[in-house]
Amino acid sequence: MSETFAWGWFGVGFTRDVPARAAMAATVCGRELAVWRRASGELVALDAWCPHLGAHMGHGGTVVDDNLRCHFHGFCFDREGRCTRTGYGGRVPPKAVVRSHPVIDFGGVVAVWFDPEDRPPTWTPELPSTEGWVAPRGMQWTFAGRPQEIAENSVDLGHLTVVHDYAGARVHGDVRFDGPILRAEIRFTRRLPLWGRRGPITEHRARITQHGVGLAVVETHTPALGLDTRFVVAGTALDATTVTLRTTDSMRSLRHHPLLRPLGGRVPTGLLDALAMSPLHASFVGDVSQDVPIWSRKRVLDRPALAEGDGPIGRYRTWAKQFYRAPRVGLPLVDED
Ligand code: FES
Ligand SMILES: [Fe+2]
Repeated sequence: MSETFAWGWFGVGFTRDVPARAAMAATVCGRELAVWRRASGELVALDAWCPHLGAHMGHGGTVVDDNLRCHFHGFCFDREGRCTRTGYGGRVPPKAVVRSHPVIDFGGVVAVWFDPEDRPPTWTPELPSTEGWVAPRGMQWTFAGRPQEIAENSVDLGHLTVVHDYAGARVHGDVRFDGPILRAEIRFTRRLPLWGRRGPITEHRARITQHGVGLAVVETHTPALGLDTRFVVAGTALDATTVTLRTTDSMRSLRHHPLLRPLGGRVPTGLLDALAMSPLHASFVGDVSQDVPIWSRKRVLDRPALAEGDGPIGRYRTWAKQFYRAPRVGLPLVDED
């Protein structure tokens, strides 16, 4: 049982940063990992410390024949973490095994399963299809904090107006708590950043799917412009007091936009996508950059003085408690407040 680290799926890097033939070092909740990919593209996450003589395989390990090869004495490990050969050609020592962790690509973020007691995953987050979407852009910040505080932002309605200058923020429909998954739709109006300060003020409908406290996707539809964007938010504890926040943002390609259809494909949509993505990315990053200085200095209050207009923070916190407790099944997940 852990009071420090939540169990769940957590981002440990950007998918595009995993090299083709070498390992990438990663950290989740004090655990060091070596992330690499097989020839098929499949991601693998192994404990970083080589069981031979302790080299960190995330810093120098290479991929050879779909194995991770330690750069110190050449021991090789397959996707399950089994040693397949030593660097000397002799018998493989039975103790030469490293732990393999479930790993997925979540919208451009490499996400691994973490459980303080090493229990297997109870669910696997799924992202809606990325077909027809622009390649995601990423950004990351490291600061004092923990993932749960970042995830709380998704139901913190009050700060949307005060910090981000949105207007009329409200929860549309019910907030649904479905085991480890929280779903909510938030509607608000704001100035669209596409044309700088002259962008139109439009309504936005943001569907939030929060997978545990570590991973979320926010899918925003802007009806007036027929625009769809997607924002992945991944907060990961590096240790007990430090968090790394990674975000990716993407938009549905303008290739199929109704307003451009009459032009019959004569418009170079790649260029239009790039032109639209730049200010959207700047806007996403700008929003998070407004939150980070607050998150990095705030205290966690167990008894917050919640007020009308706050959004369902109490219910969020009750839901979030499940990730710090064992057992994971059979808990009364949500007390209505
Ligand atoms: S420490 Fe990895 S092979 Fe020796
Ligand atoms: Fe925010």
